[in-house]
Amino acid sequence: MTLSLLRCMECGNTHQLDDPVYVCGKCGGLLDVEHDLDTLRPTISRALFDSRLGSLDAPYSSGVWRYKELVFPEADESAIVTRGEGNTTLYRAPAKLAAWVGSERLALKHEGENPTGSFKDRGMTGGVTHAVMVEASGVVCASTGNTSASMASYAALAGLRGLVFFPYGNIAMGKLAQSVAYGAISVQVKGDFDASLALVRQACREFGIYLLNSVNPFRLEGQKTIVFEILQQRRWKVPDWIVLPGGNLGNVSAFGKGLKELLDLGLIDRMPRIAVIQAAGAAPFYQSYREGFAERHTVKANTIATAIKIGNPASYIKARRTLQWTDGIVEIVTDQEIIDAKAQVDKSGIGCEPASAASVAGIKKLIASGVIKPADDVVGILTGHVLKDPGIVIDYHQGTLDGLQSTYANALRTIEPTLADVQALLNEEKVPTR
Ligand code: F0G
Repeated sequence: MTLSLLRCMECGNTHQLDDPVYVCGKCGGLLDVEHDLDTLRPTISRALFDSRLGSLDAPYSSGVWRYKELVFPEADESAIVTRGEGNTTLYRAPAKLAAWVGSERLALKHEGENPTGSFKDRGMTGGVTHAVMVEASGVVCASTGNTSASMASYAALAGLRGLVFFPYGNIAMGKLAQSVAYGAISVQVKGDFDASLALVRQACREFGIYLLNSVNPFRLEGQKTIVFEILQQRRWKVPDWIVLPGGNLGNVSAFGKGLKELLDLGLIDRMPRIAVIQAAGAAPFYQSYREGFAERHTVKANTIATAIKIGNPASYIKARRTLQWTDGIVEIVTDQEIIDAKAQVDKSGIGCEPASAASVAGIKKLIASGVIKPADDVVGILTGHVLKDPGIVIDYHQGTLDGLQSTYANALRTIEPTLADVQALLNEEKVPTR
């Protein structure tokens, strides 16, 4: 008997895990990995996961594979493609940042500390391990930049040919550089992310390439370990809120599934509430949420946070399920709010990319409107590293971002190589001297 199978969320059709599929073979619907929790229950405990903390050996040293029994219970250990992902810091927000947000109990889980600088690595170790298992020779994705950076790296590690498509002129420099450097065939599509994803999905059906976008359920199995690790780092104490940015909605889908499994297994005693934050110019899920999910909306997306510039989120159904399970909500923030929150996270010393700052901007807005209380126990997810999008950092601090205020600018200075200029600078900046 197998411990896990794939079940279609649309028609209920099932597949075995070693079938070379990632969407339903019958109707093309989204597949869910379903683990046989009753059989797994006796082997799973907080103590098991705690015993692997600090492990020096792969795969259990990874913050994804530490939870192997809930990710891919039957994966052959020697076939796992891992870079030791996860094990990211759960920061207590520095006092000034917490005060700016208006929270008394704010923590930030920094997924930008993963090997390629975003949470995508947690999903990619799952997806590429499955690709190897079904003997795929090449892997493909459409991406706003982080999925492609991650896939390029893991494909190279596994010896697979990687092919990435991104929207022309809408990808941050750090991400583009990673994809090219890791050796993926890197293709700019003259269209937006939604057009790129539709094209790639079609191409996969037509040409039989293995798809590694988050419609691939093995990606989400890896990504759900973000919430496992948060809970474990908090000694399994459930926060009141977990707040994350939403684009294609893979991550929020993964969070809901992971939390539901922990609850069903008795590893946690209640659900946290989930808040998904979308950029105001890329908020189709927010529109549907506001109407009680009467309709699935799509939009022509526009935001400075290119990572979440997505108008037709692929994991809509799974994300809606997460909100049902967690009494979740959706909020929007403007580009100005995003960019100012980013400046605050950056100058706190932690740093993040623009899309990540949507979490922090969202928490600030939800506290101001009274939905989140200042005393609530809140965990915000920072999804990507500050160096992913260096262009925006420089433009913000130089005051050259089109149509946006550089509220917290830290302007770059230029001086002559003289002591007099240094002294003038020290005086001007009131830098304490001897
Ligand atoms: N934050 C960052 C930094 C991202 O790169 C993404 C998605 C998200 C948030 C949103 O996560 O799509 O699961 O809702 N980036 C994808 C990519 C789309 O191609 O890298 P989501």
